[in-house]
Amino acid sequence: MKGIVLAGGSGTRLFPLTSAMSKQLLPVYNKPMVYYPLSVLMLAGIRDILLISAPDAVPVMRSLLGDGSRLGLNLSYAVQEEPRGIAEALLIGADHIDGDASALVLGDNVFHGTGFPELLRRSRDRLDGCVLFGSPVPDPERYGIAEVDSTGRVVSLEEKPRQPRSHTAITGLYLYDHEAVDIARGITPSPRGELEITDVNLEYLRRGRVTLTELGRGSAWFDCGTHDSLLAAGQYVQYVEQYEGESVACLEEVALRMGFIDVDACHRLGAGMRQSTYGRHLTRIARTPD
Ligand code: G1P
Repeated sequence: MKGIVLAGGSGTRLFPLTSAMSKQLLPVYNKPMVYYPLSVLMLAGIRDILLISAPDAVPVMRSLLGDGSRLGLNLSYAVQEEPRGIAEALLIGADHIDGDASALVLGDNVFHGTGFPELLRRSRDRLDGCVLFGSPVPDPERYGIAEVDSTGRVVSLEEKPRQPRSHTAITGLYLYDHEAVDIARGITPSPRGELEITDVNLEYLRRGRVTLTELGRGSAWFDCGTHDSLLAAGQYVQYVEQYEGESVACLEEVALRMGFIDVDACHRLGAGMRQSTYGRHLTRIARTPD
């Protein structure tokens, strides 16, 4: 399975924070936002990852993450010239996907939860068509929304509905079989000229091949697209890291736990950042891996 992080868009809802800075490079507590979605793909066991970003952000992303080899990854980069919709990521990433299954994650989404890595790997292993991840929200007009029947089967999907049929948001993580690129090629742009990911998901629904996995209790999900949700995500991560003693989206730690790098590499990476609590955390876990 190939991974794609879509870190494009102009982040206008976060102005002036994003007037001169890519949204996905803003801090969520102690690390750049893009670390969070990247860690999700890594937790799914994916090492071939394409990062898609706006033209001026790609060089910065590249200087932040390089070719990924220090994390045991194979990272490549592509430009999304204009924010033309999430589904365009499947077209930009067509060569990278190369007929394989794919996991697409939005660069401003933060996922966390004790059972989340296991849920992710199970969903990946049982992938048949498309897997969407649902989470309850109080403001469904802001999201893609799924309606399910009493058996848990998805019956409708709507993008930012005025009159939502449920409070279950479709989060920005999509697992697709090898057909996603062809489906994305066949959809019509919205009146705003965007290729909506919900239209790709609707085509899978029409074919009867959508599974909705509810993130469930004990899981947290944030779309950091507004000032309040950005701050809430940062406060959540601070709470988990300081009071529960667990790190969130610490890429080097994820790489170590996934077996992408060894303890010596993890220690070296931490030692290079020993002035920060992040770096000291890495040297500590490298000394006492569990
Ligand atoms: C996008 C999707 C939406 C999804 C959301 C999750 O919306 O279009 O379906 O629920 O991401 O973060 P956006 O945040 O780009 O407006």
